[in-house]
Amino acid sequence: MLLQVRSLEKTYSRGEETIRALRGVSLEIPEGQFVSIMGPSGSGKSTLLHLMGGLDRPSSGQVILGGESIDRLSDHDLSLFRRRKLGFIFQFFNLLPTLSALENVALPRLLGNESLKEIEPRARELLGMMGLESRIHHKPDQLSGGEMQRVAIARALISDPLLILADEPTGNLDSKTGESILTLLRDMALKTGKTIVMVTHDPKAASYGNRLLRMRDGVLESDETV
Ligand SMILES: Nc1ncnc2c1ncn2[C@@H]1O[C@H](COP(=O)(O)OP(=O)(O)O)[C@@H](O)[C@H]1O
Ligand SMILES: [Mg+2]
Repeated sequence: MLLQVRSLEKTYSRGEETIRALRGVSLEIPEGQFVSIMGPSGSGKSTLLHLMGGLDRPSSGQVILGGESIDRLSDHDLSLFRRRKLGFIFQFFNLLPTLSALENVALPRLLGNESLKEIEPRARELLGMMGLESRIHHKPDQLSGGEMQRVAIARALISDPLLILADEPTGNLDSKTGESILTLLRDMALKTGKTIVMVTHDPKAASYGNRLLRMRDGVLESDETV
């Protein structure tokens, strides 16, 4: 099993208030699935995604990715693990404004002390797969929203991750651009056998996946494979 989530709980405290964002979520995701997560705002979708990717730590429960219990890793090892094993795609792209498309794509491996020269052929290949051959030296502010998100997808793939996590990847795009991004994601997943977990509030976006999880009030309400 690629990913195992066991009895995951996450509690936030805000002053006197305690917010139980996750109240015991368990699930398993085998390799190659494209999983969509839907649910009302505040139901815990992003919290679940962040815990799956080791961006935050659970209050209790476990996340086991590729056989490794990520809760046991030190902060340093967890950040290495994230960089090597995970690809993240966010609603607002999270590209560095001073870097070119090529450098943004290369960044996760540049941080791992590889040289741009070593990484460049693969970064160019991924940008090519995303239809961005002619945008390689552009900075984010010279790109459209759809192009920025395609750069972000290429960046998510540069380390050949085990798992790609996407939080509302089309939330900041018009519907036509969003559909082209989802088509690219799905085709890439089919071609490479990559596993994707995507949070979305858009049923049409969710339909690109082959499994649908519904969250409500911090619990998994339903789980259907389509
Ligand atoms: N860092 C935080 N501090 C305090 N409360 C938080 C934090 N992150 C999320 N929450 C709360 O946890 C609940 C679930 O949030 P979230 O996972 O972002 O929901 P969703 O992505 O489904 O909209 C919400 O009530 C939210 O306000
Ligand atoms: Mg969210």
